[in-house]
Amino acid sequence: MGSSFGTVFRVSTFGESHGVGVGAIVDGCPAQLEISLEAIQAQADRRKPGQSDLTTQRMEADTVEILSGVQNGKTLGTPIGLLVRNTDQRPGDYDETLDAPRPSHADYTYLKKYGVRAKSGGGRASARETAARVAAGALAEQYLQQLCGVDIVAWVSQVGAIGSEVDVGTVSRADVDSRAVRCPDHAAADKMEARIREVRDEGDSIGGILTCVCRNVPAGWGEPIFDKAEALLAQAMLSIPACKAFEIGSGFAGSQLRGSQHNDPFTSGDDTNLGTSTNNSGGVQGGITNGMPIVFRAAFKPPATIKCAQETVNYAGQPVTLQVTEGRHDPCVVPRAVPIVESMAALVLADLARQA
Ligand SMILES: Cc1cc2nc3c(=O)[nH]c(=O)nc-3n(C[C@H](O)[C@H](O)[C@H](O)COP(=O)(O)O)c2cc1C
Repeated sequence: MGSSFGTVFRVSTFGESHGVGVGAIVDGCPAQLEISLEAIQAQADRRKPGQSDLTTQRMEADTVEILSGVQNGKTLGTPIGLLVRNTDQRPGDYDETLDAPRPSHADYTYLKKYGVRAKSGGGRASARETAARVAAGALAEQYLQQLCGVDIVAWVSQVGAIGSEVDVGTVSRADVDSRAVRCPDHAAADKMEARIREVRDEGDSIGGILTCVCRNVPAGWGEPIFDKAEALLAQAMLSIPACKAFEIGSGFAGSQLRGSQHNDPFTSGDDTNLGTSTNNSGGVQGGITNGMPIVFRAAFKPPATIKCAQETVNYAGQPVTLQVTEGRHDPCVVPRAVPIVESMAALVLADLARQA
């Protein structure tokens, strides 16, 4: 149900923000893959809180433990259990939200659905849950790398209205990580970092956009009708907390073009595949990968928990002024969303690879 994703390469996550920890069970991973815990930890470290002054100051080691399914550094083909323990819980920080649901957070909807909610910190709606996806996605990435050298890189391409210019063909994770905001265009990154500090100092928050490229994906992955590659990518991205929009290739902008401007003419390519001279399709046609880089964008809203006073009502419907004074929150989620987007893309592609 709601906590599992994928058909053959399938991940289920568990855990709350202020419980013992979060984790994932990965089923359907092939046997005899070489697994590097260091590579999984490296991705977990890119997601963890407290990395810079642009993110929440909650401090978590986010150490990933492999509980099962791996022996002597190789997969057994059995379910792989991954655990990330919580160490810096402060449930008391959220007392302000006990009587009134936070506007645009998940307090109200969780209560309506379950009739009960985790005592603090957003429970499963918290981005803490994504630590489990990142660990599972980093595992999926190792499968894809060993299968055919798939290379997935995401970066922050916009914060508020500040855009950037980045070469999709060559951008690397090292370029992305050269800046705290994770935008490899340094002139844009200067402005983005200044903007995030400005809204943070005002007790406010701001949204942004990530672009992601998946290179070396072979032609022929994806299902033609309901499980189109772009449909699964859209579901994967929109399942990330605070993600509100997805577009692939030319996306919304393509709707303003003529076919003669938008078509991707074929080229002779290499020994086995045709190529295309442009990539407005974003690497997918008819739901099936065409061998060109998959390029998509995911937009994130400004996070809901802000320190500015907000006029709202409590659970009884009476007007209250909500002012969250404690608790540690991200003024902008996109720098930390980079490994989450990469991991969700890897989970989609690993599942498509298993079905190809
Ligand atoms: C990396 C990351 C960090 C986040 N940090 C916060 C945060 O500090 N405060 C907050 O209110 N929301 C944060 N969010 C977003 C909430 O989890 C999300 O908005 C909430 O669960 C409601 O879901 P929805 O926005 O998708 O409707 C974060 C999201 C991500 C991806």
